[in-house]
Amino acid sequence: MSQTAEPGRLVDRFGRPFRDLRISVTDRCNFRCTYCMPREAFGPGFQFLPRSEILSYEEITRLVRLFGAEGLAKIRLTGGDPTLRHDLPTLVEMLRAAAPEADIALTTNGSRLLELAQPLADAGLDRITVSLDAVDDAIFRAMNDVEFPVARVLDGIEAAAAAGLGPVKINAVVQKGVNDHTVVETARYFQGSGHIVRFIEFMDVGTTNGWRLDEVISGDAIVERVGEALPLEAMAPLYEGEVAKRWRYADGSGELGVITSVTQPFCGECTRARLSADGKLYTCLFAASGRDLREPLRSGVSDAELSDLIREVWSAREDRYSELRSSATEGLPKVEMSYIGG
Ligand code: GTP
Ligand code: 5AD
Ligand code: SF4
Ligand code: SF4
Repeated sequence: MSQTAEPGRLVDRFGRPFRDLRISVTDRCNFRCTYCMPREAFGPGFQFLPRSEILSYEEITRLVRLFGAEGLAKIRLTGGDPTLRHDLPTLVEMLRAAAPEADIALTTNGSRLLELAQPLADAGLDRITVSLDAVDDAIFRAMNDVEFPVARVLDGIEAAAAAGLGPVKINAVVQKGVNDHTVVETARYFQGSGHIVRFIEFMDVGTTNGWRLDEVISGDAIVERVGEALPLEAMAPLYEGEVAKRWRYADGSGELGVITSVTQPFCGECTRARLSADGKLYTCLFAASGRDLREPLRSGVSDAELSDLIREVWSAREDRYSELRSSATEGLPKVEMSYIGG
C-alpha cells in the first residue's frame, strides 16, 4: 500500500486516506446496459427505491458538509443515471456552497445533456463523464439496450463541452465479442476532439450481469489494438491513485485511458467512499452491505455524532476486493452498480 497519510487525517486500516465521495442520487436509469442493468433482471416488475427512502438534497448536502471536514476533495454524482433525478442543478448548487473547494463531477449516460449541461455548469458543476460504449449505432442500441440513436449521446457530449464542462471523459466498457472490435473506431472518432476516451475492463460488479473472466479484454490488449492503428505513448499519472492509465497519440492529437480494475487492480490507492441513494455508506464498489446513515440523519442526531459514524466506518475499512478477486470471491453477495453508482 503506497498511500502516505498526514498526521490527524482520517485513514483506513491500510493507511489509505479518505478523499472522494461518489454519491448515487437515484437507482433508476433509462438505459438497460447488458453489463449493468440487464432487462431480464431490471424489467417492468423491478422494485426501485421508493421516494421516501431516498435522501433529500438537504440530507445529502448535510452529509457532504460533514465529509468536508474529513478530507473530501472530490465529489462525483452518479446513479443509476443522476440526470433522472428531478432538478439536479439545485443539488449541484447546494453542494457547491457546502464544499466550495471540492472538485464536483458527474457521471451520466448523456441522454439528457442537451437540456441539462448548461444549467449544471451554471450551478457550479466542474466536469462531466459520459458512458458510451460504441459510436456505432447498432452496437450502441444493442449493448445499451435503448430505443434512440447514439447521436443523442454524441450531441450531449458536445453540449457538455460547449457549456465548459470539458474535457469530457468518455467511459467505454469493453466486452469480448460485443464491442471489442470497435475500440479503434471509437478512439478515432474522438481523436482530436479534446474529449478523452477511457476503455474500461468489463467488471464482475453486482450479481446479474453474467460476468465471465473470458469476456474481459485486458487494458494492455486494448492499448495494443488501438496502438497498432493509432500510435500511442505512455503518459505519467496526473495524481496519486488515478484510476485510469493514460496514453497519448504520438501525433499530438489527444489522449486516451484504460481502466484495468480486473487485470491490474488499484485498491492500494483507493480513497473512495460511496453513498447510495438511500443513504448507505459503502467503502468498496464490491461490498455486500453498507452502513446506514439515513436512520441517524432522520432521527435527529447531532453533526458530531454523524461525523463519528463516518470516521468509524472509514477507520475500520479494509476493502481490497479487486486485489483478492479469485474463485473465492466468485459467489459473494454484492450490491448492483446501478444502485451504488460507478
Ligand atoms: P476522474 O479522474 O475524477 O476523472 O475520475 P475517475 O478516473 O475516477 O473515473 P470515473 O470516476 O469515471 O471511473 C471510471 C470507471 O472506473 C468507473 O465507472 C468504474 O467502472 C471504474 N472505477 C472507478 N472507481 C473504481 C473503484 O474504486 N474500483 C473499481 N474496481 N473500479 C472503479
Ligand atoms: N464493468 C465495467 N464498468 C461498468 N460500468 C457499469 N457496469 C460495469 C461493469 N460491469 C460503468 C459504466 C459507467 C460507469 C457508471 O460504470 O460504463 O461508465
Ligand atoms: Fe444506466 Fe449507466 Fe448502468 Fe448503463 S451503465 S444501465 S447507463 S447506470
Ligand atoms: Fe476500491 Fe474496492 Fe475498487 Fe479496490 S475494488 S479499488 S477497494 S472500490
